Amino acid sequence: MKLISILNCDKNYGIGKRNGLLFVQPKDMAFFRSTTSGHTVAMGENTLLSFPGSKPLPKRTNIVLSQDPTKNYEGVINVHTFEDFIKAINEKLNSDDVYVIGGASIYRQMLPYVDEVLLTKIDADGGAEVFFVNIDEDPNFELVEQSEPIEDNGNLIKFCRYLNHNKKPLI
Ligand SMILES: NC(=O)c1ccc[n+]([C@@H]2O[C@H](COP(=O)([O-])OP(=O)(O)OC[C@H]3O[C@@H](n4cnc5c(N)ncnc54)[C@H](OP(=O)(O)O)[C@@H]3O)[C@@H](O)[C@H]2O)c1
Repeated sequence: MKLISILNCDKNYGIGKRNGLLFVQPKDMAFFRSTTSGHTVAMGENTLLSFPGSKPLPKRTNIVLSQDPTKNYEGVINVHTFEDFIKAINEKLNSDDVYVIGGASIYRQMLPYVDEVLLTKIDADGGAEVFFVNIDEDPNFELVEQSEPIEDNGNLIKFCRYLNHNKKPLI
């Protein structure tokens, strides 16, 4: 099974501000939903808190990393160290694809371990406060697929897939 990061970014690799997304992109949201539904999603606490009602994503197993051991969210697998986060992901990978769904701190820490990155590039500047890495300059990653630009709620977006050629073992 595969470990895959999925996210969108603006032209500066920006991914969020004020603990929210930069843009409303319904076509990208539909892609995210159909890709991750039925699988496991792994995230940091801020990303969980950014969802409507701070509720986990339906139809998916949600793994949430938070530093504070007293924080245990309903309906999710709660973990409180990066080691336990990796362990929970590894266990799920025995039988399921696992999607890393943010946010910035989690994408960065997980980057060496993922098989693939599904990155939707939005051709606009969202004035981001938090950023992904410049994956196009990372020698470990190869861009293997990219769609034609698609119009989505006033922005042009492109679906890109990168393979990690230097994947680190999880455990
Ligand atoms: N564009 C996209 O596709 C996309 C997708 C998802 C999220 N986002 C955006 O990303 C932003 C949130 O990102 P973020 O970096 O602020 O938050 P985050 O990665 O969602 O969550 C950070 C949380 O995880 C904890 N954590 C992180 N690493 C840890 C570790 N090694 N051990 C223990 N705990 C750890 C942090 O604890 P401490 O703070 O105590 O260290 C903090 O509570 C939002 O703006 C969101 O909208 C964008």
